[in-house]
Amino acid sequence: MTYPIRPIDESEWPAFLRVLEEGFGWTPHPQQGARFKAETEFDRTLAAFDGDDIAGVTAVLSLTMTVPGGQLPVGGVTSVSVLPSHRRRGVLSALMRRQLADIRERGESVAALYASEAPIYSRYGYGRAAHELSFRINKHASAFVANAPQDPSLRLRVAKPADVRADLEKLFATVVTRRPGRYERKPHAWDGVLADEEADQRGAGPLRSVLAEDGAGVRGYALFRIKSSWDGNGVPDGELKLYELEAADPAAYALLWRSLLDRDLVSKIDAGTRPVDDPLIALLADQRQLRASWSDELWVRLVEVDRALTSRAYSAAVDVVIEVEDDVCPWNARRWRLTADPTGAECKPVEDQPDLTVPVNALGSAYLGDGLLLESLAAGLLREHSPGAVRSLATALSWSPKPWAGLTF
Ligand SMILES: CC(C)(COP(=O)(O)OP(=O)(O)OC[C@H]1O[C@@H](n2cnc3c(N)ncnc32)[C@H](O)[C@@H]1OP(=O)(O)O)[C@@H](O)C(=O)NCCC(=O)NCCS
Repeated sequence: MTYPIRPIDESEWPAFLRVLEEGFGWTPHPQQGARFKAETEFDRTLAAFDGDDIAGVTAVLSLTMTVPGGQLPVGGVTSVSVLPSHRRRGVLSALMRRQLADIRERGESVAALYASEAPIYSRYGYGRAAHELSFRINKHASAFVANAPQDPSLRLRVAKPADVRADLEKLFATVVTRRPGRYERKPHAWDGVLADEEADQRGAGPLRSVLAEDGAGVRGYALFRIKSSWDGNGVPDGELKLYELEAADPAAYALLWRSLLDRDLVSKIDAGTRPVDDPLIALLADQRQLRASWSDELWVRLVEVDRALTSRAYSAAVDVVIEVEDDVCPWNARRWRLTADPTGAECKPVEDQPDLTVPVNALGSAYLGDGLLLESLAAGLLREHSPGAVRSLATALSWSPKPWAGLTF
């Protein structure tokens, strides 16, 4: 059975939203629903129809994402859901294929998404391309190393986040280009970050902010909530939930962390998502106190292998013939000669013998610089025909800082 697929118009929004609500078991509160609708690009939605009813949905957000060495228009895949009554009949597969063709037609060479479950998207050529740490740290075990940076010209300012939105946006715009995976925030995304309705608070009080600044302006900020409590003996046992901490330089970064870690009446800090190379790890005198869990974050799909590979910078020289396997986007499935060094890259179709054979999702995993090609080789997930070819490509693709988006889309 096939289900015709097309974008929806605004009048069909309630039916589109219903499929998301049913798929995710989620009920947005009214302000959340309004924000969600406002950020939806209706011409980039897709719905699969069973008669007059919508059975499955997806959408794309037009993102400007940082990649190694620059920024790129990226199709941000979101709002993926199939009605429980229609699951496992190929609806998602049909939507994914159509969506990738649309993204290509739009001129974007890369797609990215957050996966609700890790096993879903490899079959469509997405690879896990960034990871995140979630950690808890006990304030009483959070001393910094003796040579942690300090800048006496810096001072802290406590402010209501909504009152300093322009400062936050300006600071964010300066840091967003520094780490692959980060993407520019449109006003609707900021509305979501700063939303402070009761449902967003989840019992942890209003959103708070602290800024680090000097005479020249803001150099960093943190956004957080505090859940106050005292234990049975009357000892303060509050928890600080960190949402964002952004800084333009190491001294502002260290000062902001110290201001959170030293907060009175708080005994622990819970940081929901941080990069795997968060500088806090190096600042702590006792890193073992960081109780962290690790998870995949962004998934990346090279929609057009050659354009994607020539749209990023390289850490080292490489010259390899890559045989790409790609059932979903057959225009990628051929041999490509990638010649790159830190000054530029070329990727041309060739008929030469390949140095390595890779499924396209392995290239997606490596694209933002997380260095995962060698892991894939060790796991037997790609084939090397010329000894050293995978190491050479992995080294050229690797990047610092490590990729991380930091905010779900
Ligand atoms: C995930 C979801 C969209 C899949 O839709 P679907 O129409 O049932 O998917 P398809 O029938 O096209 O399945 C395609 C393949 O993916 C597999 N698959 C689908 N969902 C999967 C899951 N959650 N875990 C593992 N495999 C999954 C199917 O078994 C099938 O495998 P096959 O090709 O080897 O037979 C649907 O189950 C859903 O809406 N889930 C809840 C919301 C959600 O998690 N959305 C994703 C947000 S990122």
